[in-house]
Amino acid sequence: MFKNLWNNSNKEISYNINKDCVPNHIAIIMDGNGRWATERTLPRSAGHRAGVEALRDVIKTASNIGVKYLTLYAFSTENWKRPESEVSLLMKLLIEYLRKEVKELHKNNVRINVIGDIKQFQDEVIEEVNKAINKTKNNTGLCVSIALNYGGRLEIVNAIKHIAENSKNGAIEIEDINESLVSSFLYTKNIPDPELLIRTSGEIRISNFLLWQCAYSEFWFTDIYWPDFTGEHLIKAISDYQNRSRRFGGI
Ligand code: FPP
Repeated sequence: MFKNLWNNSNKEISYNINKDCVPNHIAIIMDGNGRWATERTLPRSAGHRAGVEALRDVIKTASNIGVKYLTLYAFSTENWKRPESEVSLLMKLLIEYLRKEVKELHKNNVRINVIGDIKQFQDEVIEEVNKAINKTKNNTGLCVSIALNYGGRLEIVNAIKHIAENSKNGAIEIEDINESLVSSFLYTKNIPDPELLIRTSGEIRISNFLLWQCAYSEFWFTDIYWPDFTGEHLIKAISDYQNRSRRFGGI
C-alpha cells in the first residue's frame, strides 16, 4: 500500500508493485503528441496540449509511490527543426504549465529542475523556468527534471570541453579522469542514473536522450501515445521493470 501524499489525503492506494524496489529515477521520452492529434483530425497543437495534461497524473503517481527523480524529455536540441509556429507553441505551453502548476507542485514538495541549455530561449521562458526552480529548490520530494534544449551528445561534448579546460590549467590531472568525474560535468551531476527509461508512441530508439546516463537503464517501450499515458501505465512499466533481472554485465 502506498500513501496518497497529494490533496492532504491519508487514503492508501494499492498498486501491484513492490514498494521496496521502486526505481529511484525514471526518465520518459514523451512521444506521439502529433500522431494522437492527427488520428483525431485535430491540429498538432491539440496533441501538445493533451500532452501537457498527461503530465499531471504521471507526476502525481510517481510522487505517491516514492520515485525520487523523474526526467522528462520536453524539447530536444533537434526540435528547433520544427516549424517556428510549433516551437513557439511548445514554449507557450511550457510557460502556461509552469504558471498553472508550480503552486500545486510546490505544495506537494516537488522540486523542479531543468537539464539542457536554456540560454537560447526567450527571456520570458527563462524567467518562468528560473522562478519555478527557485520557488521549489528546497523541496525534498520528487525532483522533476524537464529536459529543455537538451541533447545527449552535446551534453557530453560540453563536458569534454570543460574537462579539457580544467586539464589545461592544471586543475585536473589526466589520471583523475574517470567515469565519476565525467558524470560530475554533466547536467545530471547531482542525479543518479535512471534505472528505467520509458518511451511512448511505438518508437524504439533513444533519440539523443541521456546517452551517458542510460548505459545500464532498463528500457520500456509502449505503443500508447503520450497524451493517453497515465499513472496506471507508469505502474505497469514499473511492474515489468521489477520482473527483470539486472546484471550490469555480471551473471
Ligand atoms: C513529442 O511528440 C513531444 C514533444 C516534442 C514535446 C513534448 C512536450 C510536451 C508533452 C508538452 C510540453 C512540456 C512541458 C513540460 C510543459 P511529437 O510532436 O514528436 O509527436 P509525433 O511524433 O506523433 O509527431
